[in-house]
Amino acid sequence: MVGRLCRIREERDSYRGANKKVPIRFLFPKIVQNATCDKAKKLPGLLETHYIRTTGAEHNQHRHQTMSTSIAQAILQGANTLRKGGVPDERREAGSLLMYVLERDRSYILTHAEAELSDEQVEKFIAALNERARGKPLQYITGRQEFFGLEFEVNSDVLIPRPETELLVEAALALVSQNGAAFICDVGTGSGCVIVTLLHKLSLARAVALDISPAALAVAERNATRHGVHDRLSFVTSDCFAGLGPVPGPGFDLIVSNPPYVAERAVDGLQREVRDFEPRAALVSGEDGLTVIRRLLLESGNYLKSGGVLIFEMGFDQHDAVRQLIDENSWKLLEIYHDLQGIPRTVALAKRD
Ligand SMILES: C[S@@+](CC[C@H](N)C(=O)[O-])C[C@H]1O[C@@H](n2cnc3c(N)ncnc32)[C@H](O)[C@@H]1O
Repeated sequence: MVGRLCRIREERDSYRGANKKVPIRFLFPKIVQNATCDKAKKLPGLLETHYIRTTGAEHNQHRHQTMSTSIAQAILQGANTLRKGGVPDERREAGSLLMYVLERDRSYILTHAEAELSDEQVEKFIAALNERARGKPLQYITGRQEFFGLEFEVNSDVLIPRPETELLVEAALALVSQNGAAFICDVGTGSGCVIVTLLHKLSLARAVALDISPAALAVAERNATRHGVHDRLSFVTSDCFAGLGPVPGPGFDLIVSNPPYVAERAVDGLQREVRDFEPRAALVSGEDGLTVIRRLLLESGNYLKSGGVLIFEMGFDQHDAVRQLIDENSWKLLEIYHDLQGIPRTVALAKRD
């Protein structure tokens, strides 16, 4: 038996790097020494069995034939893989990965349960499942995330846009002047989801996007081009406002920010998808999570015109601490917006003269 397994391993190894399909008996050497088509079909793990089926006759002649995988089977087995990897909502996530692989929407997946995947699609699906099962967020695998009805490119250089940040955009839209001809600054632009959406909605507005990460700004720039607002937006690598230089005219009408706000001590407790995959600079802001918010409150006034508005997002538990930081001689509190879970999330302040 040992000699036999050795031979199998040697034969299997000869397939490596040869760009050939690996016969199923090498994937399951103990089970499928003489697999027939029917036996192969009964093997656990459909995606593994996709590779090869060998009928008795074909097996003798060392001829192999690919076994088919349907959408329904792929979802079932994909969800299995994800569940073992500790991924919640595994069926939906498997469906999303399959949509990405097939370049189809969910309704296609739902209505074509019997449609078969090509070999390339199966391979791409397995690779995506394995990445997801290791904790990589779905959006970094598919390279996109929807925000405020627009699709944004994302990669591991930027935070994945969050639904609660749509509140920041809604509030900002409500606060800009009626004709929308605002001059806006976005501090910590990341993917650009906030400022690109604002410019997309406000066709007369112009803006500056700041981020400490040049890699993030490169993503934001591509998103600005994708949504046709590139000519009204400039990008500056900057630690808060330090790299900005003098602002033309009376200053910005509006400064928006979804700053990093996780406390250093809270990082270990984050979900692995966030902790291990999203950029640390996009998450963490000093010991108490308030370093960048403090700087926004201290420095924004220098760049806003009189009566201009500062609006920013904060952490779910930071409301009281942020209220303490607001200097009432410098700022008039306009509103604190609550998210859909009733958590105070977004603060709007007007600069006092
Ligand atoms: C929470 S993410 C927000 C990204 C995007 N605006 C969004 O809402 O999805 C914070 C962003 O701020 C940037 N950042 C962190 N510290 C900064 C600083 N001191 N100055 C400027 N940008 C900073 C990070 O690189 C990251 O892109």
